[in-house]
Amino acid sequence: MDLDALFRVVRETSFTAMLDVGCGTGFMVRETRKRHPACRVEGIDRFDFDGEGCSVADVCSVDFSWQRRYDLLTMVHAVNHLVDPKRAIENLNARLEPGGHLLIANPNPAFVKIIRTLNAHGYLETRGGDDTVIAYLGAAEIDRIVNRYGLHRVLHREYGEAIRCTVHGVDLVIRERELLLYRKRG
Ligand SMILES: C[S@@+](CC[C@H](N)C(=O)[O-])C[C@H]1O[C@@H](n2cnc3c(N)ncnc32)[C@H](O)[C@@H]1O
Repeated sequence: MDLDALFRVVRETSFTAMLDVGCGTGFMVRETRKRHPACRVEGIDRFDFDGEGCSVADVCSVDFSWQRRYDLLTMVHAVNHLVDPKRAIENLNARLEPGGHLLIANPNPAFVKIIRTLNAHGYLETRGGDDTVIAYLGAAEIDRIVNRYGLHRVLHREYGEAIRCTVHGVDLVIRERELLLYRKRG
């Protein structure tokens, strides 16, 4: 994980209160608190990983009753693991201040596809991909889910390990992960 790339974008949002959704053991919460000690930084996850004082909540539930508000929501390798991303965004959007941001860090679906193709042809020994992923969502699919809540993409940046290839004479660099930043109207 290229933390510099991730936190460069976090810093650009000028947030005061952040919720990391699907926080796992809490690395994002821990790292953000270190870098932004004056801000309120919290995390939630469906499971209790006992990390960094994170709370247990299912963001896909119709009974999601989280009350606090934030000007930054982060989802680091979490969106692709949600059983109902539409319901999750509806629940989370209600907790996001107008003008606030949603930052999504995801595997780049194009990178995953290339790794899987190379693997299928016996070029790699690594398997590629994650069994707990429900669907590898790309920027366009995530846009369609979040746009209806007044969230519009203001940044799309690839980062991490790179595959370089030439397709029909065009040189391409495809990176392992991508960052999507959305701003809420208001
Ligand atoms: C691949 S892990 C990423 C954990 C952490 N963000 C990281 O990067 O280390 C995905 C996380 O999403 C959480 N998750 C999945 N569905 C969820 C839901 N409905 N509500 C809250 N968290 C959920 C999982 O429990 C898991 O901790």
